[in-house]
Amino acid sequence: MDAQDIKQDLLTELLSENEIQARLKEIAGQIEKDYQGKDLLLVGVLKGAIMVVADLARAMSRHVEMDWMAVSSYGYGTTSSGVVRILKDLDQDIKDRNVLIVEDIVDSGLTLSWLQKNLISRGPTSVEVMALLRKPEALTVELEPKYIGFDIPNEFVVGYGLDYGEKYRNLRSVASLHPDVYSGD
Ligand code: PRP
Repeated sequence: MDAQDIKQDLLTELLSENEIQARLKEIAGQIEKDYQGKDLLLVGVLKGAIMVVADLARAMSRHVEMDWMAVSSYGYGTTSSGVVRILKDLDQDIKDRNVLIVEDIVDSGLTLSWLQKNLISRGPTSVEVMALLRKPEALTVELEPKYIGFDIPNEFVVGYGLDYGEKYRNLRSVASLHPDVYSGD
């Protein structure tokens, strides 16, 4: 077998490339309506959100700005530690801006809940959240993202920005991993 072949590590495909892209187009249309006549700054949370930001922004025909934050919450494991640290902050001041935080996944919700509060303290006009995936069963805090792509079961998934040990982010779909892949942990 080819050790570089991603597909052999996957167990089940949860969301296909087409399903993801179709949903992102719907959400992009909704965002364009909701933010009509307003400025819009997408804040992508590195690294998982890079694919979502790239495809969501390109599904819109309006002006949109992008900025990035990097926070650490998980490290190399598969469960959330709840510890959030800013590794890279925004390049710009968000005072009086309409900010939409873009995430790949809401798991426990700790990262987003912390991030939302942090950004609100900087005096923006609004701070909303768009997350491609949400695991309702894993939520430990109250969090109401304005836009959600899909609710998924409480399983560890990879692909479309989501990693396991920094791999699988480049998969175009979202899938669960074969248990053999992490049996060595
Ligand atoms: C993932 C994901 C969210 C967070 C969600 O990031 O991108 O930021 O975990 O988990 P929570 O709802 O339990 O807080 P991760 O820390 O794995 O970093 P990465 O995006 O660089 O992979």
